[in-house]
Amino acid sequence: MAKLVVFGAGDIARLAHFYFSTDSEHEVVAFTVDAAYATGPDFQGLPLVPVEQLTTRFPPSEFRMFVALSYAKMNRVRAEKYAQAKALGYELVSYVSSRCSYLSQHRPGDNCFILEDNTVQPFVTIGDDVTLWSGNHIGHDSTIGDHCFISSHVVVSGHVEIGPACFIGVNATLRNSITIAERTLIGAGAVIMKSTAPGSVYPGPRSERISKTSDQLDL
Ligand SMILES: CC(C)(COP(=O)(O)OP(=O)(O)OC[C@H]1O[C@@H](n2cnc3c(N)ncnc32)[C@H](O)[C@@H]1OP(=O)(O)O)[C@@H](O)C(=O)NCCC(=O)NCCS
Repeated sequence: MAKLVVFGAGDIARLAHFYFSTDSEHEVVAFTVDAAYATGPDFQGLPLVPVEQLTTRFPPSEFRMFVALSYAKMNRVRAEKYAQAKALGYELVSYVSSRCSYLSQHRPGDNCFILEDNTVQPFVTIGDDVTLWSGNHIGHDSTIGDHCFISSHVVVSGHVEIGPACFIGVNATLRNSITIAERTLIGAGAVIMKSTAPGSVYPGPRSERISKTSDQLDL
């Protein structure tokens, strides 16, 4: 069992604490944030240590780290803290839920967060610092680049190449054999049928309110 320091003190850090504590060989022993974000001495009943003091109190020779941040600024914040943790000498660990179907022979990179009900088919490659929130389908022979955030119930068909730092919203669909360029933002419910350009944005369809109320419809 490795002792683990989680970077972050928000929702994702709270969830990382839950998942690592209930479904991994790692024991979370502390949280860390930049000093400016340290709101108190503890979080979730564990020490909350300014990152500036981390190597003294929880040295990288004895503790590993997990960076538990969201997709803020198109994953740049998480990528920066990932690089900082490595520069400080920490080994970063990944979490893969015991309740997901991980069928690829390639293990994911470090600092990945792969939650329940994901299906990762054979011959899939997952880079470093990738989040797969719950319930996605990652089709065979697809590749997911470093620092991507894929939310829930996304269908990635076979032979799709996803570049670094992409965000893919809930219920999006990606057809087979396309390339999603780096930093592409795909909105909730979007259907992507062609390769994308770097930094492009694809919002999904939006429902418009109709004039009738729910009581006026004959349900
Ligand atoms: C695509 C997305 C990121 C847009 O973000 P947003 O906060 O809704 O952005 P806004 O409503 O401010 O829209 C931004 C611009 O895009 C335009 N736009 C948004 N959706 C559009 C659509 N479907 N068609 C055309 N234009 C659209 C807006 O009109 C706006 O243009 P403007 O600045 O000229 O007014 C958002 O809709 C989305 O899908 N987010 C992902 C949600 C999700 O999956 N969350 C799970 C997290 S785990």
